[in-house]
Amino acid sequence: MISIRKTFSPSKILLTLGLLAVLPLAGCASSPTWFMPASSNAALITNLGTIIFAIAIVVFIVVESLLVYSVVRYSRKREGEPKQIEGNTKFEIAWTAAPALVLLVVFILSVQTLSQVAYTPSAASNPSGAAGGNAVHVRVVGHQWWWEFQYPELNITTANELHVPLNAVVNFDLESVDVIHSFWVPQLAGKTDVIPGHVNHTWFQANQLGTFHGQCAEFCGLEHALMRFEVVAETPDQFQTWVAQQQAPVAAMTGDAAKGEQLFLNGACIGCHTVNGTKAHGKVGPNLTHLASRKLFAGAVFDNTAVNLKKWLTNPPAMKPGTQMPNLNLAPADIDALVAYLTSLK
Ligand code: CUA
Repeated sequence: MISIRKTFSPSKILLTLGLLAVLPLAGCASSPTWFMPASSNAALITNLGTIIFAIAIVVFIVVESLLVYSVVRYSRKREGEPKQIEGNTKFEIAWTAAPALVLLVVFILSVQTLSQVAYTPSAASNPSGAAGGNAVHVRVVGHQWWWEFQYPELNITTANELHVPLNAVVNFDLESVDVIHSFWVPQLAGKTDVIPGHVNHTWFQANQLGTFHGQCAEFCGLEHALMRFEVVAETPDQFQTWVAQQQAPVAAMTGDAAKGEQLFLNGACIGCHTVNGTKAHGKVGPNLTHLASRKLFAGAVFDNTAVNLKKWLTNPPAMKPGTQMPNLNLAPADIDALVAYLTSLK
């Protein structure tokens, strides 16, 4: 028979507590983590999260210690039948007031952080922003299961890859064309719902260069987990270069790419996709005008390589089940020509 003392050995308890304490840190190594904020908003959220986490650890240790102590100290084996008592006013007041106090502190801190995050600095305090010192404005449209990013003032529409200048205030209008999604960049911005028929707002100001992962944070169907995007925070000069490149017309196609362009413009593709300066004006799928400039595709899930594009065109639902892009049963030669075209959309 196993004794209680053996089951609850101090080393086992310590090991369990240690494992529980490091569990939330397990995801820390890679980028999508709120532990390494890269904007003032994210820093406020990280601070709040850290304080609440610390409070939770203290509560956990106090409660578990009392529990383990009671189990060991007052075991039937040691003490026999305990003295039966009913009610203790002092204790009851204490264990009602203490959690209420903890919740009050958490509530006050949360409301404080909420109001700080909601405050948008004025465009005037944003000298390094694009468009002559104004804040950058992005319209975000959630789709099952990819992200559309429009820069209305800059005449740019792209997908899954958001570019922002360092230290510029970026204001977002968020909308959805289908179901409720949630815009979340753990290192830059807390979650904001993306709702059909309603415009939500959020903002951030990236204070670190780099690429930050974003993720849909509201369950939205089969490929919710593969509804990702990337935020590229770059110097104002790099941003202007990107803007100029995105605004440039598509180059004239030659060879296989020209053949692919003809297939694209005369096939089913234009029903869903837009390529600026052509007769392709579809709005269902991502705007492909400068597809080749993006690192990833299909909800920022696959590396944007010729090999992957070929696989994708061969059978999209096989690569991403549920995708609205159907298998068009294209001939292998046509797929090669289309890939040549798509990889030329720089
Ligand atoms: Cu979109 Cu989850």
